[in-house]
Amino acid sequence: MRQSELLRSLVRETRLTPKNFIYPLFVCPGEGVRREISSMPGVFNLSVDKAVQEARESQSLGLGGIILFGLPEKKDEVATGAWSDDGIVQRATRAIKQEVRELVVIGDVCLCEYMSHGHCGVVQQKKQTPGTASGSHNGGSAAVQTAACTEYEILNDPTLEILARTSVSLAKAGMDIIAPSDMMDGRVGAIRKGLDQAGFENTPILSYAAKYASGFYGPFREAADSAPQFGDRRSYQMDGANLRESMREIELDVEEGADMIMVKPAMPYLDVIAEARRRFDLPLAAYQVSGEYAMLQAAIRNGWLDRDRVILESLVSIRRAGAELILTYFAKDAAKLL
Ligand code: PBG
Repeated sequence: MRQSELLRSLVRETRLTPKNFIYPLFVCPGEGVRREISSMPGVFNLSVDKAVQEARESQSLGLGGIILFGLPEKKDEVATGAWSDDGIVQRATRAIKQEVRELVVIGDVCLCEYMSHGHCGVVQQKKQTPGTASGSHNGGSAAVQTAACTEYEILNDPTLEILARTSVSLAKAGMDIIAPSDMMDGRVGAIRKGLDQAGFENTPILSYAAKYASGFYGPFREAADSAPQFGDRRSYQMDGANLRESMREIELDVEEGADMIMVKPAMPYLDVIAEARRRFDLPLAAYQVSGEYAMLQAAIRNGWLDRDRVILESLVSIRRAGAELILTYFAKDAAKLL
């Protein structure tokens, strides 16, 4: 049954179509801007007008949709750029929705791109308990500590309110789907409630339910200018060693009202995708992240791997593991190959 492409194609178990792909776009201020990201050749920071062009092309290639990330003009400690109605993603959404009618537009909801410290939630310096503070009898010793050893924590619950506000603002701008990627506990419930109260009962939530703390996000942080200024994301993103815990994370998000779920990254976590597909009935997405893309591009550009083959093979493996939707920087390339 493998003798000819005709026979192989007859018995092929897994098929890809452009509708499987979601194309990520990074929107930045300005006009006529199309700035290549050095660690992600072929991926660009785009001003709103250029993002509209990309959206138009995505539509004509028949892609499933696009997902938008934003690089705001200014960052602060309350992520104003994420939830203000004239934020960069809100503006891009309105412009795209006005001109490109047959394309699903998804809004990534996270605060790291909009926070001056680059974390996905509200940050507070840890209160010292008496006795543990160095060189102090009664705590409150922040002043004697150097910046390097200052302890901080990400405040889960105060972050939820900002995420809900961001989601409502994006829905108002015309976003078709809201996709929280922050990994705070309870955010799907908070966003659902916020959307419902604002009259967006019909806006679905695609939850980045099992998102691992991963070295493979490196190039994204250059693309979205969202690297944490101190510490890392391990206190809120998942430990890459855990499979059972990811099922619990997904279950909680489903209970809170997620309409679709996501596993991220994709290729290093195919077992997680397969297990999620077995256990849950919701549409399942997987994110082939920036580092997966960069790794393949580097080898392709060196002539070490055959571009067309590895693009499709990497995507079909994610699809075979069980993801119907694949967020991938190869979306346009793969659609053209198909
Ligand atoms: C925002 C977010 C990240 C990615 C998607 N949403 C970065 C992170 O968590 O650090 C990564 C996507 C990629 O690497 O392509 N939190």
